[in-house]
Amino acid sequence: MKSLLIVCSYHHHNTEKIAQVFVKVLNAQVKKPHEINPKELSEYDLIGFGSGIYGGKLHKSLLSLADSIPHVTKGNAFIFSTAALIGDTKTTKDHSLMREKLESKGYVIIDEFSCKGFNTNSFLKFFGGMNKGRPNAEDFKRAEEFAYNMVKKIQK
Ligand SMILES: Cc1cc2nc3c(=O)[nH]c(=O)nc-3n(C[C@H](O)[C@H](O)[C@H](O)COP(=O)(O)O)c2cc1C
Repeated sequence: MKSLLIVCSYHHHNTEKIAQVFVKVLNAQVKKPHEINPKELSEYDLIGFGSGIYGGKLHKSLLSLADSIPHVTKGNAFIFSTAALIGDTKTTKDHSLMREKLESKGYVIIDEFSCKGFNTNSFLKFFGGMNKGRPNAEDFKRAEEFAYNMVKKIQK
C-alpha cells in the first residue's frame, strides 16, 4: 500500500511527531502542502492530511490544497490534528471544513485522529504554555493503534 502524509506543523512540530508514528506503521512518505503536485496524488492508495488546529480549522495551506486537488473515484484519506483542546464534538467540528472539501473531491475519510499538542499561542507563552509534553508516549501509542486499525479497515 502506497501512502502519503501531507503535513503542516509549524507551531511546535506537534503534528509532525504524530506523523512520524504513522510513517513507521504505513511506511509513508511525508510532504508539506507546497511540495505537492496535485496530479501525483492519484499514485497513492492512502493519503493522510494533518496539521495543528489554528482558529478552529486545519492549516489554510492544507485547506487550499484540498481545493486544488483533482476529483478521484473513491480515494482513501484520513485527517489528523493536534490541538490545545480535543473532544469528539470539537474535533469533528475542527476537521469539518477539510472533511467536506475532501469528500467533495471523491475521497472517503477512513478515520480521523486528534490529540493534545503543546500550545504557547498568544498570552499562554507568559505562563509556560498549556499541554506541556504533549504529544506524549500515550498519544504516540494511540496514534500507532489508530494507524494499524486504519490499515485493517482498508484491507477488509
Ligand atoms: C495561531 C494559533 C491558533 C490556534 N488555534 C487553536 C484553536 O482554534 N483550537 C485549538 O484547540 N488549538 C489552537 N491552537 C493550538 C494548536 O492547535 C496546538 O498547539 C497544535 O498542537 C499545534 O500544532 P503544530 O505544532 O503541529 O503546529 C492554536 C495555535 C496557534 C499557534
